[in-house]
Amino acid sequence: MEQELVRMPDGETRRKRTIKMEKEEKTIYDLPGVGAATAEKLIQVGFSDLMSIAVASPAELVDATGMSDAVAKKMIAVARSSLEMGFESGEELLRRRERVIRIKTGSNAFDSLLGGGFETGAIVECFGEFGSGKTQMGHVLAVNCQSVDKDAVAVYIDTENTFRPERIIQLAKGAGLNEDEVLKNIKVARAYNSDHQMLLAEKAEDLIKKQGLNVKLIVVDSLTAHFRAEFIGRGTLADRQQKINKHMHTLMKLADKHNLCVYVTNQVMAKPDMFFGDPTQAIGGHIVAHASTFRVYLRKGKKGTRVAKLVDSPNMPEGEANFYVDERGIKDIE
Ligand code: GTP
Ligand code: MG
Repeated sequence: MEQELVRMPDGETRRKRTIKMEKEEKTIYDLPGVGAATAEKLIQVGFSDLMSIAVASPAELVDATGMSDAVAKKMIAVARSSLEMGFESGEELLRRRERVIRIKTGSNAFDSLLGGGFETGAIVECFGEFGSGKTQMGHVLAVNCQSVDKDAVAVYIDTENTFRPERIIQLAKGAGLNEDEVLKNIKVARAYNSDHQMLLAEKAEDLIKKQGLNVKLIVVDSLTAHFRAEFIGRGTLADRQQKINKHMHTLMKLADKHNLCVYVTNQVMAKPDMFFGDPTQAIGGHIVAHASTFRVYLRKGKKGTRVAKLVDSPNMPEGEANFYVDERGIKDIE
């Protein structure tokens, strides 16, 4: 809230309170024919924002809500016209790219694989088997992001109860940082189920907007474990994918809007029909794969080492890096 002095007709000066409003984003409630009941039905099946309605077919909306075909068509048309399509010039994009900050892993080989470290404005996914180092990476990034910017804060959404402050202290000491400061600048929340996890991601924006924190990293470890446990069987797969999609969308928006890095971890499952090559595959299917800007496959190598393989990236060639994890963090193999 800002206060401004104004002269009243009687000559007195008064303080006029002006509330600075942020340009409100339109929601599905602004669409014609959407009352509370319809909105609830739409949200339940994943049509929670204008974009999802703009790209839906009338039949999908009719199925979801029981509305008439004509109403569905009108809603889609209005959603489409009210969306700012947000074209930016290449020059503007280049300027935005110049703001990108890279968080170091501690291993030069790993950093080079990603073009210098974990980028802000992007979602980086590490997937791999148990003990491959996904959680360790989360801890290391939460510490190292604090060196990239003044007052940088890490948000850690912990779904498996594997966040360990003791480990942070160890890593902070190793990086020559004040461990109390480092711990203070990591905001940890335990997510008890997938809905809770999604809500926490949405609430992360409050830390930036309401508390004014300079969040540079959001860790979601594990991205997929709750979803995997809760949605079992083929019938619920579509629901699961829709929810993961929405979650990824929330995370991408945060990364983009606030120039922060989102780091997500993902398990692998056995592919029983695979006889050649690596018999594992990431959970979450093409939705997670598609929404992640960088995808890194972690696996155990020889003599306790780890191997990172970049499998998907917008501008870096595929490649591999060898590293290891020890009490100091993530390091190059000498
Ligand atoms: P899941 O969550 O089970 O899928 O595995 P993950 O990929 O998250 O594995 P995590 O990051 O927890 O890897 C742990 C591994 O890091 C251990 O098995 C150790 O081999 C290795 N490690 C090496 N040094 C240390 C250390 O000082 N502390 C810890 N916690 N782990 C270390
Ligand atoms: Mg883990």
